[in-house]
Amino acid sequence: MTFDDLLRKKRYGGELQKEEIDFFIDRLTADALPDYKVSAFLMAVCLQGMTDRETADLTEAMANSGNTLDLSLFGDQTVDKHSTGGVGDKTTLIVAPIAACAGCKIAKMSGRGLGDTGGTIDKLEAIPGFSVEPAKDEFLRQVEDVGIAVVSQSGELAPADKKLYALRDVTCTVDSIPLIASSIMSKKLAAGARHIVLDVKCGSGAFMKTLPEALELAQTMIEIGSRKGRVVCALVSDMQTPLGSCVGNALEVMEAADVLKGNTTGGALYDVALTLAGLMIASVKQLPYAQGRAKAEQILKSGAAYDKFLAWLQAQGADALVCSHLEALPLSSRCFTLTAGQGGYLAGIRADLAGHLAKQLGAGRENKGDSIDYGAGIRFLASIGEQIAPGHPLAALYTEKPIGDEKLRGLAEDLFIFSEKRPETTSPILQILQ
Ligand code: URA
Repeated sequence: MTFDDLLRKKRYGGELQKEEIDFFIDRLTADALPDYKVSAFLMAVCLQGMTDRETADLTEAMANSGNTLDLSLFGDQTVDKHSTGGVGDKTTLIVAPIAACAGCKIAKMSGRGLGDTGGTIDKLEAIPGFSVEPAKDEFLRQVEDVGIAVVSQSGELAPADKKLYALRDVTCTVDSIPLIASSIMSKKLAAGARHIVLDVKCGSGAFMKTLPEALELAQTMIEIGSRKGRVVCALVSDMQTPLGSCVGNALEVMEAADVLKGNTTGGALYDVALTLAGLMIASVKQLPYAQGRAKAEQILKSGAAYDKFLAWLQAQGADALVCSHLEALPLSSRCFTLTAGQGGYLAGIRADLAGHLAKQLGAGRENKGDSIDYGAGIRFLASIGEQIAPGHPLAALYTEKPIGDEKLRGLAEDLFIFSEKRPETTSPILQILQ
């Protein structure tokens, strides 16, 4: 077998056998294939697609290309949650403590921000002292004792995906359902949890712009998981608007802490977080979703989830004094208040532009390896549906960058969508697939 044989087969729409896929990933991991051949293969997959069986075999081969985590000592109580990437999505910080209070074990590997979307690891690093790289035995002990540990995804996890992702990024081959599904699920399989809850984002701030695409991605990932012995379910949620009222690392930690303290009992962030926590509990404890959700709400209300959150942060090194004043994490020294130039109802906030703006304020990276300003970001001061008069404050922008007021105003142009009529309220929960 040669790589050119499989390249030709895929180009003409053939179905690759497991041995052929294993051969490809083996050669790729050994750095034995030139980028131009791999790029041609990726383009052939984009154009010809893959069957569910091929996608599942590709996922498994990628998962086995590096280290895998054995979580069998926790029985079948392990659950992972994955979001396909969004703006203002701090749900991991909320759902992990709730699910841990219900007895689930969360041994999670998370990523940093990607493009204009944030990453859980960057948010956690906004908490002084928090370590995202504990040793493996400490990580497992913490899962046993506290129920949660979240660490930075190491380069040794699914290295074949890392190589493919870097090439996809520069060859217009990112948005292919078999390639996205295998990329995400390879890391989930390697990370070892028995139960996987997916949050597939849909809208302007997400990879999947339409509901049919998001549903197809969700169904493909569920199919991969069940072919490979995992229990997978998915939420498809709205990412037309940023999730919650803050975008930026320290700001998002403070917002998550506020939800955990029970200060918010409605809105999109609360709804998405409680749905995900409900699905995690339902999956692990083998309950109908409604019972999992009710349990999640009861745990949140009791205050136990906030206590668990603090225990988790401190187990990973966060300063105890900081934890007792989480609402006062340091923010960037400059705060600019953006006001409405026109009146009307606030009908929307564009998630893609919000992600881009937060990055320009310093909350994300322009280039791989750049340092970020944990205190930078956006706090929205008006909610969707609210009637706004000209001059009403819309958002506070935090930055350390020397960006003039006019430039800041220009960067935020088109972020807010106004309408003359009161917009209808919509739910961020688009579909649940179990
Ligand atoms: N996230 C991933 O890990 N991979 C993709 O291809 C897209 C989003």
